[in-house]
Order: sequence, then C-alpha cells, then structure tokens
Amino acid sequence: MGSCKVPYSVLLLCFFIGSFLVPQCLSIGDDANQTAFLVNASEALGRPIPETLFGIFFEEINHAGAGGLWAELVSNRGFEAGGPDTPSNIDPWSIIGDEYSSLTLSTDRSSCFEHNKVALRMEVLCDAEGTDICPAGGVGIYNPGFWGMNIEKGKKYKVVLYLRSSGAINVSVSLTGPNGLETLATHDIIASSCDVSNWKKMEVLLEANATNPNSRLQLTTTRKGVIWFDQVSAMPVDTYKGHGFRSELAEMLADLKPKFIRFPGGCFVEGEWLRNAFRWKATIGPWEERPGHFGDVWKYWTDDGLGYFEFLQLTEDLGSLPVWVFNSGFSHNDQVSSSSVRPFVQEALDSIEFARGDPNSTWGSMRAAMGHPEPFDLRYVALGNEDCLKKNNYRGNYLKFHTAIKKAYPDIKIITNCFGFSRKLDHPADFYDYHLYTSANNMFSMAHRFDHTSRGGPKAFVSEYAATGNAGKGNLLAALAEAAFLIGIEQNSDIVSMASYAPLFVNDNDRKWSPDAIVFNSSQLYGTPSYWAQHFFRESSSATVLHSTIQPNTTTSLIASAIMWNNSDDGKSYLRIKIVNFGNDTVNLKISVDGLEPNSIQLSGSNKTELTSGNLMDENSFNEPKKVKPTQSSLENAGKDMDVVLLPYSLTSFDLLKGSSSIRTARSGYFSRPSF
Ligand code: AHR
Repeated sequence: MGSCKVPYSVLLLCFFIGSFLVPQCLSIGDDANQTAFLVNASEALGRPIPETLFGIFFEEINHAGAGGLWAELVSNRGFEAGGPDTPSNIDPWSIIGDEYSSLTLSTDRSSCFEHNKVALRMEVLCDAEGTDICPAGGVGIYNPGFWGMNIEKGKKYKVVLYLRSSGAINVSVSLTGPNGLETLATHDIIASSCDVSNWKKMEVLLEANATNPNSRLQLTTTRKGVIWFDQVSAMPVDTYKGHGFRSELAEMLADLKPKFIRFPGGCFVEGEWLRNAFRWKATIGPWEERPGHFGDVWKYWTDDGLGYFEFLQLTEDLGSLPVWVFNSGFSHNDQVSSSSVRPFVQEALDSIEFARGDPNSTWGSMRAAMGHPEPFDLRYVALGNEDCLKKNNYRGNYLKFHTAIKKAYPDIKIITNCFGFSRKLDHPADFYDYHLYTSANNMFSMAHRFDHTSRGGPKAFVSEYAATGNAGKGNLLAALAEAAFLIGIEQNSDIVSMASYAPLFVNDNDRKWSPDAIVFNSSQLYGTPSYWAQHFFRESSSATVLHSTIQPNTTTSLIASAIMWNNSDDGKSYLRIKIVNFGNDTVNLKISVDGLEPNSIQLSGSNKTELTSGNLMDENSFNEPKKVKPTQSSLENAGKDMDVVLLPYSLTSFDLLKGSSSIRTARSGYFSRPSF
C-alpha cells in the first residue's frame, strides 16, 4: 500500500461532500491507492441495530442436547429406545455377569408409567450363598452414557431410579471406570420385599472419589431374585443455574450473549416422517413420564429430558428471547393437507398458551406445575422449517396457522419459510426465514446479499448460516467469510432483524454435520473459529451502526463496519470498528473518525482484537483448542486518526473508548464487557 499524502482534512471533506465525489477527490493526490476507512461517529447519521440481531440456533443434531447440553448422563434411561414392542433392544445398556449362568435380562411392558410402558426385567440366578455363588462384584447392568460419563472427583451425582421386586433386594448403585474395575462412588439400596413389591422411586446421592471421563453407571446385586428397573437417571448436582444444562457448554452459549434462541430445529422439527417429528406435548411434565422419541432425520433416540419447557428455561437463563419453531404439518416425506391441519394449529396455540398463558389456563397451569408460574417471554414463532417449496400447500397451512395465532395472540411475530427478498410474499408475515450454506468465497461475497433488497416487505431472519465445503470441521477461512457476512448484516440491519449460525453443537462421537460452532465430548470442549468470530458481534445488538466507507471503493478484499455501543459493566461508550481482510496481503489502513469531540478517544481502555492464524485452513481441536482464537492487545495509537495494520486473512476489531463527553446511544445499559 502507498503512504498517505492526502491530508485527513481532505479525506474527511471528501467523505462528507458525498461518495460520488470521493473518487475525484482522492485522485487529487498521488496516493489514490491508499486504503482508508472513514467513519462518521454521529449517531444521528447512524441507525439503531435491532435489539435481537444476533442470537443462536439450537437444533437437536449431532447429539447437541441428548448427550450434550442436557446434563443427563444415562442414555436410554427408560428402556424405550428399542421401541414399544417387547422383547426390545436395550442398547446402550449392557449386562454384567454371565447371561446364562448368573442372570437373564429381558424387557416387558410392566412399567408404572402409562406413556412409556417398557421396563427392564433382570432375573438373577446366582446368590450370595449356596451352589451358584455370584461373582464378588455382583451381576447386573451398566449404562456407559453417551460415549462415557464424565465423573469428576469431589462432584456429586444424583441417581434416581424406579424398581420393584418379588423379594427383598440389595442393589449397589455405582459409578465406575469403563470396565467396572475402578469404583468412583457407590451406595447400596437395601429394601424388604413389601417395600418394593410395587414400583418404588429410589434416590441416591453419590460423591465421586476420583475422575474418569469414560465412566459408567452400574446396578448390581449378589442376591437371587427378579428385579424390574425403569427410568434410571444420573445427573450432576451442579448444572447451569440449577436447571439441568451442562455448565461449561451453557457458559459458552452465555459468552455469546445471544439475544434469542431459535429451537428445537431445523429438520429435527420436521422429521423424515411426521410420526417421528418433535411433539412438544410429549416433552413436558415429569421427566419419567416422557416417552422420548427417535429423531429420524439425525438418526438417534432422545429421552426428551431437554423438552419444550427446558428450552424456554434456557432462553430465560441466557437472557435471550425464545424463537419457537413448530411443525406446520410437514415432514421431509409426508404432509398434512390444509383441510386436515386444524389439530396441528391447535397444538401450536396450546404451545403458546403453555409458554405465556395465565397460570390458571389449561396449558399455563402445566407450566406453573413445572415450577414457572410466570409466563416466558415468547414473542416469535416460526411456522415450519424449509417447507415453503414442499409439494403440497405450505401457503394453505401457513394461512390457517397465521389466522388462528394472530387472532389469539396479535402481538406474536410470525416467521414464514418463504423467502421475501426476490419477490413479494403472497402471504402475511412479520419475518421470512433465510438459510445460507455456501462456500467461504461465496459467503464473503454474500456480505452484500441484502444491500439491494427491497425495504418494503417483511424483514429477514437469517436463522441458519455457515460457510461449508472448504470449511473442514470449522476453519479460519470459514470464520472470516462468516464474519464478513455478519458485517454485511450489521450494515443491512434495517432489513435483517435476526441472524444465527448453524449448527451450534457437535458431540464429536456423532458428527452428523460439519462444521459446527462448538465441539465437545464427555469432558472436553472448544469453540471453532466460527464460534470465535461470533464473539466480535456480541455487542452489536441494540448498538448504533455508523455511517462508514472504505476507500477506494474498489477495494474488494476488505469488509468493514463501525458501531457505537454502550458497556453496561463500566457505563462507558465504545466505538467498535470491525474489518475482515479476506486477502493474502497485509493491508496498511488509515482509519479516520469524524464527528467526535477533540481528544475524546481514551488511550487506556481502547484495544484491538484479532482473529487469524498461520494457515487459512487452521482449525481448533481437542489437542489444540485455542489454536485459532481472538487475541486482544491495547491500542497504543487509539485516536480519531489511526494507521493500522490488517494481517492477511484476519478479522480485526478496534474498540475505541470514548471520553466522558462521549455521545451515547439511546438504549444504554444493555451491553456488557468487551473481553475475549
Ligand atoms: O443446520 C442443519 C440443517 O440444515 C437444519 O436442520 C436444516 O434446517 C438445514 O437444512
């Protein structure tokens, strides 16, 4: 890049005279090639960014919830995953002992729970004394959880199970290492035959004496007899806000400061077949009574511990708003005609009543019974997922839902699956859903996707976006392209109201979709570069996007924006400039900020944050979880005019702390600390 020979005053003059004059102005000097970013800090010329611009999309995919965010350690806790007909597959439960000489296992339909009748019957053939002596450790069953349970020394685990027996029992409930040899915690349940002749709930609190990320739960005995087990749960006592979410995963979500959570899918909402779609009513109430279901799109069973109520609770715990996606009568392979869709409409109405109805209403009372008498702040619902172009009649179904919902809940905002930017929608909607999965290069150019969209129709909800193809399992290239796309969204936030990356989570043991934002197994986790790129936008919702321009306007490898945001933690205002350099060259950039009072930028407290790496294809991993992660440094030359260096293939943000005379945005008090 050439050095700057045009005085700043001339540059700024150009900026305000109007962009049509800028090329001529710049050509006055010798250094027409000087790259500059010109910002006008006047909020009067800027535009408020919607309060809910950036959020997250949670889908039950990749074991995101079951064996992921939901902290339940037991997989197939009710023995229902093998289906309602017996005998059934009890996987991943397994036998301890010899299945002929010491015990036999089978399933029957004798459970006390009406909606999930399958129970495990364990007949123990050996005994503590006599001819067939049980092995010293006993015989029984174990559950390895979701590819191993992470049991940690000093932590407590609550085991709940239901059992009955024809005789007295002595059952050891233990957390052990992967082969059962190392006991991490154990407790004996001893009961007389009359105590357990009918189904009885037992609760055991176990404290681990050692750590093993690949542990299992065992139920063993050395006593002859028949015992039935059902609904066996093991949960860590410490969960996020005490609501059952795996703490370290929930904290990674909290760190994104999401303003909304779209849930529970995605394709998960639709199912391959409607009979396997997510049905919210089967996911509420006591966990023991939930039937669970097989999600046939992503091909795994969930016990539905993470149900509709828990999703609503999660939104509240993360200080975000729910965006509830419900089935509008479509799966991937079958659909309900508009003339028969009324029961689905009623399900949707009931779900809204459950979330925000009076505690005395039919469904509001169920919410209250689950411990949440206050309504949840449900304002947005989406009618289906990617169903607009389905064979039959999305529009017909949609209108039935729309009419009924708007009549009962006029304030609820409704999101259609049909795109509204290329042509006018033929049905009423508050937002239209837009999904974008594309190559990194295309994603970068999509930063301009909404520049020329009509401003007259409904606003866009980019509820799923990600760079794919050459993105590996989540590399720097993808993250930079996505950051550029988000900068474009920020600039177009008058027409784009919400955006969320997809998918959010992947359990590395069941990777159905790559890339993802957060990768984990039973004990480890890390954010992909895409996760970290989203951190640069945490303060954008509710901020003010400022008028800014890159010069020369032929610069194609840079995308930049400037926002003014207030930090509620320190009560101060910051000007944040974000720039993606999507090229292989270092860029020497002039940043000029107009519209600030002299000396109103404070050196101390201003900083620079960079996301880059040695190789464009670099990814994080369990071995190198922080290989591609933002680094922060103080900004020594913070000021209205700065010469800065943008590294090749990088995302850089400059946070300029404004002095006490600083201009403030209208909605101060909504923001938080800009640390990475
Ligand atoms: O995010 C993964 C999937 O991509 C979602 O389930 C679906 O909506 C989209 O096709």
